[in-house]
Amino acid sequence: MNSRSNDKVSRLKMRLTAIRYGARDVNMYDFSLLDGGELPTGEAGAHISLFLPNGLERQYSLVHAENSPTTYTIGVKLDAESRGGSLYMHEKLSVGTILDIEPPINHFVLETEAEHTVLVAGGIGVTPLYCMMEQLERLNKGWEMHYSCRSREDALFLSQFEGDDRVHLYFDDERNGAYLPLGDIVKSAPEGAHFYCCGPVPMLGAFEGSLVDHPTEKVHVEYFSAKDEAALAGGYKIELALSGVEIEVEPGVSILNTLLKHGIEVPFSCAEGACGACEVDVIEGEPDHRDVYLSEKEKAANESMMVCCSGSKGGRLVLDI
Ligand code: FES
Repeated sequence: MNSRSNDKVSRLKMRLTAIRYGARDVNMYDFSLLDGGELPTGEAGAHISLFLPNGLERQYSLVHAENSPTTYTIGVKLDAESRGGSLYMHEKLSVGTILDIEPPINHFVLETEAEHTVLVAGGIGVTPLYCMMEQLERLNKGWEMHYSCRSREDALFLSQFEGDDRVHLYFDDERNGAYLPLGDIVKSAPEGAHFYCCGPVPMLGAFEGSLVDHPTEKVHVEYFSAKDEAALAGGYKIELALSGVEIEVEPGVSILNTLLKHGIEVPFSCAEGACGACEVDVIEGEPDHRDVYLSEKEKAANESMMVCCSGSKGGRLVLDI
């Protein structure tokens, strides 16, 4: 496993110490160590992984990134199509519950040297960007926030945002469905600005589309679900290096499901390339990467892959399992 997978060894036992209303269908959850002690610092943009009693692993962005915190706060939106993550959080968790939590990992890193930062948020995607905004404030750096939501009732942090002319709010039901003016936002940003976006997949696609001419190191996106279809063409073989067993991956079936069908245990959670739980090292062959977890550089290195959604470009893959 690569270094990121190795990060996953140290889980903390944490107690849910508070649940608060955030917005319609959004609750805020505070977690602390059982003795109330100091927690590993999480940077702005970082997420923690929760291991729920129903067996699911879910990642949520930190809302605050203070040094030496004693609490991690996350916001969780109840997803109408929840497969057990947000539904479980909203319906089953109560204050006092103890969970295993993996300390913060950051794949959505804030460039703190930038003179100006443009934050573009959609719905619950505002949580990591709010965290970045707090950090930029502490550093006295220039920033602007563009936050789009279906309606005012769905928006988080309204009392902090309102009255601040650096925050631009877009509510579908107050603007007759007018969309976020991404082109104008990009055009009016100061030279050298860094751009960050977290929100629904179509918004992320539009955001990336409006910044194609910008240097990639200044464009930062956080995906929480897959943007590409899973690679299900099949018709190739996977060899399991530890046992030498070779298995045919059939059309329409993921590598993950092929492995599970053959009784080979592989950890997984989101099953759509977003969480990193099913990451497997690749010894030989070229994966057809479809996840949003690995960076472009990591994908190009072909040293590991997400077996829930990625496939093979060639006829054979040798995996380190
Ligand atoms: S299970 Fe989440 S990335 Fe594969």
